[in-house]
Amino acid sequence: EKGGYDYFMLKEIAEQPKAVADTLLGRIDESGRLALDEVHIPDHVLREVNKVVIVACGTAYHAGMIAKYAIEHWTRIPCETELASEFRYRDPILDQRTLVVAISQSGETMDTLMALRHAREQGAKVLAICNTNGSTIPRESDAVLYTHAGPEVAVASTKAFLTQLVACYLVALYLGQVRGTKWGDEIHSVIRELSQISTEVEKVLATMEPVRELARSLAEKNTVLFLGRHVGFPVALEGALKLKELAYMHAEGFAAGELKHGPIALIEDDLPVVVVVPSPRGRSVLHDKIVSNIQEIRARGARTIVIAEEGDEAVVPYADHLVRIPATPTLLQPLVATVPLQVFACELATARGNEVDQPRNLAKSVTVE
Ligand code: M6R
Repeated sequence: EKGGYDYFMLKEIAEQPKAVADTLLGRIDESGRLALDEVHIPDHVLREVNKVVIVACGTAYHAGMIAKYAIEHWTRIPCETELASEFRYRDPILDQRTLVVAISQSGETMDTLMALRHAREQGAKVLAICNTNGSTIPRESDAVLYTHAGPEVAVASTKAFLTQLVACYLVALYLGQVRGTKWGDEIHSVIRELSQISTEVEKVLATMEPVRELARSLAEKNTVLFLGRHVGFPVALEGALKLKELAYMHAEGFAAGELKHGPIALIEDDLPVVVVVPSPRGRSVLHDKIVSNIQEIRARGARTIVIAEEGDEAVVPYADHLVRIPATPTLLQPLVATVPLQVFACELATARGNEVDQPRNLAKSVTVE
């Protein structure tokens, strides 16, 4: 049932190109427009939405953080992403014009369920993004957009995460389409690129041997830091979460701009720091800033593991290890940048003799608050 792989996690990492393609299947029509009739929220309701609130836990929360960038950029609707376990306790401001998006692989996470119940009590509309047909979260929501990752068995979420991202992009683009905001060339080219992205994920998977080797060489380390900016920041958080749950290592993700506000004090000789570099095309200002961050940490002794787009030469002099990913539009980069971090964590777990599919103290679905 593991399809020849040693662990479900490896199988599920390998299934990502298909999972991504399946989640897009039938949702983009020939003219390049989105067809999401299955989301039974009428267009007039979506046109009235004046705030989007995303609630989720763990890896799904990281997908939600990335969705915030996409939704605000493509639709200009204010969006906030909140940990489901915090949400209802702060008495959030919600009404009929709020669209709450609850993201959950299992559809059974109690924190997320309680958050959406609270949202519906306040009159908000709830859209679930879920991987499990007929589970509690979609049943209790007003609408659902299923991710088609197939069953995810390993406790550490991989393919579900990539499909959650795809679903979030679809929701963001669909809101843009329905409301006519920013619906122009940029959006059409993003949709085109999104429909190609499964091939790009495949390319990343084909080049992971050096990442595995690097992971094995770091098996004795105690700490790994992850840095990113913009959508690379949630990717950094996701890389750190994977490492914590699988390798039981101290791992932290930071927004690279925050370094100088404290975390840079952690940098010491030979400390591995993974840096997710935004594309030098597009918002190049972000790229230049992160290149300076890499220089700063390296000057203080960090061992830099740089994840950067093909053709980005500016990072080469400062990268102790360089992991190449295909060029994508900025907002889609997490779909390719996350993959090496999953492989890295899985290999480190194996090298440290940990149980990959069933990490200690964790369960696949967390049905208690
Ligand atoms: O089933 P859900 O997506 O609601 O689960 C949320 C988190 O518990 C889950 O993503 C968890 O963080 C994973 N173990 C991360 O790999």
